[in-house]
Parts: sequence; C-alpha cells; structure tokens
Amino acid sequence: MISHASAELAQARALLAPALGQRGGLCVLTGAGMSAESGIPAFRDALTGYWAQFDPMELASEGGFRANPQRVWTWYAERRQGGQQTQPNAGHHALADLARRRPGVLTLVTQNVDDLHQRAGNTDAIQLHGDILQDRWLDPCPRQARGGNVCSTEGAQAGQPPRCGECGNLLRPGVVWFGEALPLGAISAAEQAAQHCAVMLVVGTSGAVWPAAGLAGLARRHGAQVLIVNPAPSEIDGQAHQVLRGTAATVLPALLA
Ligand code: OAD
Repeated sequence: MISHASAELAQARALLAPALGQRGGLCVLTGAGMSAESGIPAFRDALTGYWAQFDPMELASEGGFRANPQRVWTWYAERRQGGQQTQPNAGHHALADLARRRPGVLTLVTQNVDDLHQRAGNTDAIQLHGDILQDRWLDPCPRQARGGNVCSTEGAQAGQPPRCGECGNLLRPGVVWFGEALPLGAISAAEQAAQHCAVMLVVGTSGAVWPAAGLAGLARRHGAQVLIVNPAPSEIDGQAHQVLRGTAATVLPALLA
C-alpha cells in the first residue's frame, strides 16, 4: 500500500517535472532551515534560534554595531569560525547534483550568509543577505571625496573590529542588517528568476523577512507552481500549491533524485 508521505512526494515530483526540462525552469529560495542539519542554528526557532537568545537590533543592525562594535564583531567572528567547522548536508548536495545534471535549469537564491551551497558546488548561488566570510568598511572613506587613497583592507589595523590606520574607519561583516537594502544585483536577479520560473521551491525559511519572503508570491502571480519544504508552518504557506512537511536533508534528495 502506498503511504501518505510517498503519495505526497510523488505529487510534488509531478509538480516539479515540467520545470526540469526548461532553462530557468526552477527557482529555489533557501533560508536558515537549509543549514540546520549541518549544525547552524536558525534565527526564529523558539529554543535554539539566534533571535530567541539575542536582540537582533543589537547584533544585526547598523545602530547596534555603532553602539558596540566589539561585541557585534566578536559575535560574527564566532559564527564565521563555527560555520567553517560545518559541512554541506544531503539537501545542499541534492541541489548541487541537480545543477550538474541539468545545466541552466536551476537558479538558486539564498538568504543564508554561510557558504554551504557554494561548498556543495552551487558557486553561482545568489546571496540576498550578503556573505559572512566577507568584510566591508562601515563608512564611505572620508578621503575618497578629496581624491585620496581609499581605506584598504590590507592596511587594516588588527583589532575587534580592525580599523583603517589612516582614517579610523571600521571593518564590519559583509552581511545585510535590518533596515539595510539588499544588494541591488542580487535582488533583481532573484526577482527575474522568480518571474520566469515554472516552479518556485522554497526550503527552510519562516517567510518573516522581506523582500525575500515576497519571492514566492511574485513567482505565483507570474504563473509558477510554488512548492514549500519545511517541517513547520511558515508565514508564506498560503502562497504554496503544495507543502511538504519534512526537512531539507531528507526531502530534497528524494524530491530531486
Ligand atoms: P528563520 O529562522 O526565520 O526560519 C527558519 C525556518 O527553517 C523555519 O520556518 C523552520 O521551521 C525551518 N526549518 C528548521 N529546520 C529545518 C530543516 N532541517 N529543514 C528545513 N527547514 C527547517 O530563518 P530565515 O527564514 O532564513 O537575515 O530568516 C530570514 C532572515 O532573518 C535571515 O536571512 C536572517 C534573519 O534575520 C539576515 O541575516 C539579514
């Protein structure tokens, strides 16, 4: 007898099938749940989530960084180090395998700032919220307006955070904080992919943070089928044609095989 779960999986595979034969047919949006089985905590889990333990305005806003740069720098440095001890899970590998088997079909859009998709092989993943392994300067270099040399990372003085030896500018993590705009190239590429795909597959996001959360609805309004993979309800389940209740590392290998 066919089980409920396998019937749902078969239905999802049928929904997905037409997308796999088209260039740009499949757009995948991932969130923190994608990396949960690699050992990286999500943000909004009631017990283990970062935002259950810390105030996001203190650790993930420009104001929080200016108020206590050392604390914020150290928190990101620890997350950066922790991330380097983790490995892509079976879900990351399933997406990378798909990209290899069907070149040009998949556009992978992630809200994650870790590099697990890239390490699995999806080196062209669109990073909506930046990259925790990159740094950038907090302020525009004041000397640039005067036509002088701009701050250089090579010349940065060690510290927590490092600072420019010439003007005192601080290095900050290269992630997008609350209240900041997403990198323009990344969000417009993601919107293009959402508007032109046949299927939008959303994995491991609560759908609480915009504009990323709007991509599923955008895809649906442009005629795509929307499929969500998440062990728990999300704020965008209403946009889905089908929801698979399961984890990234268990569902994606079966769905994309
Ligand atoms: P959240 O922490 O808000 O949501 C994680 C989602 O993953 C939840 O819906 C969980 O049910 C689901 N989940 C947990 N374990 C899973 C698993 N093994 N497989 C699949 N899903 C699982 O994380 P995001 O939605 O990514 O912003 O959060 C969005 C943004 O808010 C993040 O990018 C971050 C944060 O503030 C920035 O860093 C700018």
